[in-house]
Amino acid sequence: MKLLKDRILAEGKALSDSVLKVDGFLNHQVDPELMQAVGLDFCEHFKDYGITRVLTIESSGIAPAVYTAQALNVPMVILKKQTSKILNGQVFQTNITSFTKGTSYELTLSRDYIHRDDRVLIIDDFLANGEAATGAARLVQMAGATVAGIGILIEKSFQNGRSRLEQAGFDVYSQARISRLGEGIIEYLE
Ligand code: G4P
Ligand code: NA
Ligand code: NA
Repeated sequence: MKLLKDRILAEGKALSDSVLKVDGFLNHQVDPELMQAVGLDFCEHFKDYGITRVLTIESSGIAPAVYTAQALNVPMVILKKQTSKILNGQVFQTNITSFTKGTSYELTLSRDYIHRDDRVLIIDDFLANGEAATGAARLVQMAGATVAGIGILIEKSFQNGRSRLEQAGFDVYSQARISRLGEGIIEYLE
């Protein structure tokens, strides 16, 4: 998606050969106009997939996911990283380990918001090793629903997330696919 790729080149900062900082429009400050364009692009790509719910992980997935859900005219559901006591007993949970951050956490989905007949589009900001997306997909499957697709804003194609998700049978669409990062270097595939 050209608008996102151009914005990453203009404002993104490669901090190392593995980490891209995009705090100015995605992870800290959010550009609603860009997020709306991102949502319309996901809608264009997934419009014939029969999507009934958009699912994302708090917090940085929420902005692009809400515009995607609006464009597809379906509800958006947020997976929680912190368990609320009032959700106890009526939730699906799975453990996620982040290799990038060296942390792990429980991801929680209330049983009320994904049903067996749902076709779910998972949206997230970054795809690195695919742990978060794989965990989100696990929760969808625990609910008996179908993962119809996975939409990612920024794929770090030099990490193994995409291949893991594809091997698991998921349909992955990434708007910006980065082949290489380095201090001051951001390169796309193709
Ligand atoms: P994985 O799920 O693909 O295996 O990714 P990983 O564990 O590496 O990601 C952990 C967190 O770091 C995620 O955010 C992810 O979006 C973010 N992340 C991964 N690579 C990059 C990167 O190059 N740049 C930036 N800015 N973020 C990256 P999170 O902890 O879930 O936080 P939130 O931002 O969604 O709140
Ligand atoms: Na994220
Ligand atoms: Na993030």
